[in-house]
Amino acid sequence: MLHGFDGKQEGAIKIRFNLLGDEVRILFSDDGVGVKEESLKKLFDPFYTTKLGKGGSGLGLNIVHSIITNLMGGDIHVESRIGTTFEIKLPLVAQHKKDNNHE
Ligand SMILES: Nc1ncnc2c1ncn2[C@@H]1O[C@H](COP(=O)(O)OP(=O)(O)OP(=O)(O)O)[C@@H](O)[C@H]1O
Ligand SMILES: [Mg+2]
Repeated sequence: MLHGFDGKQEGAIKIRFNLLGDEVRILFSDDGVGVKEESLKKLFDPFYTTKLGKGGSGLGLNIVHSIITNLMGGDIHVESRIGTTFEIKLPLVAQHKKDNNHE
């Protein structure tokens, strides 16, 4: 809401999902201000923020990316046409954790 609806009084966030074989695909979309083409590829970079000095550290999406790809074995992509859409794919069965000393 802070980013997508910056300067807006209303908007919509839609969360959809569908099963794709042994994965679930989640689409998280807003119809807000969107992200500029040149910023899209930097969105998951650590410390990339457009809210520097205004509460943003630029770590949120980097942590999201890391949890989804490293911990959960999925992937995440972003696109921006009308507003912003994040596409997340997650395996239905969690990947086996190789270096888990507690097993
Ligand atoms: N839904 C969105 N619509 C438009 N821009 C977005 C959206 N989500 C993220 N962004 C952009 O991506 C940048 C990086 O997001 P990220 O969550 O990594 O950092 P942040 O929210 O600025 O700070 P932090 O999450 O560390 O508090 C944001 O500063 C913003 O410019
Ligand atoms: Mg954030």
